[in-house]
Amino acid sequence: PWTADRTVEIARAHAGREGPLLPILHEIQETFGHVPEAAVPVIAEVLNLSRAEVHGVVSFYHDFRAAPAGRHVVKLCRAEACQAAGGHRMSARLQDALGIGFGETKADGTVTLDAVYCLGLCACAPAAMVDGRLRGRLDDTALDDILAEVRQ
Ligand code: FES
Repeated sequence: PWTADRTVEIARAHAGREGPLLPILHEIQETFGHVPEAAVPVIAEVLNLSRAEVHGVVSFYHDFRAAPAGRHVVKLCRAEACQAAGGHRMSARLQDALGIGFGETKADGTVTLDAVYCLGLCACAPAAMVDGRLRGRLDDTALDDILAEVRQ
């Protein structure tokens, strides 16, 4: 679980370098699985920044999540090449089937759905990443497979 003490340690470890905020946020997310709201004032104090400045950076980057992710994480590409290749319909189907929107986690903690903007797999659009593994050429069958996988 998240602790203020560990957050202070992480923040102090990076405080001397140039542009410390992003490395701090990444390490906090790696350590705790998310960057909780409560970490913002703690980091702000160590770096001598305002809470608004820290909060602004946390919310600007899609990488940081405010709550722990589900057991499975599905990242669907919503950038242009994938959208044009049927990604729009895939994203609607995925949200329908899971009953959650992008950036949300199912209440039972099984799965988090995230939007990403290009996975470098445009030639195999539409693309997704499921638990860290790339999946290209998504169609209805591939989507059904993913859904079955993340239900467990
Ligand atoms: Fe989707 Fe590049 S646009 S992988």
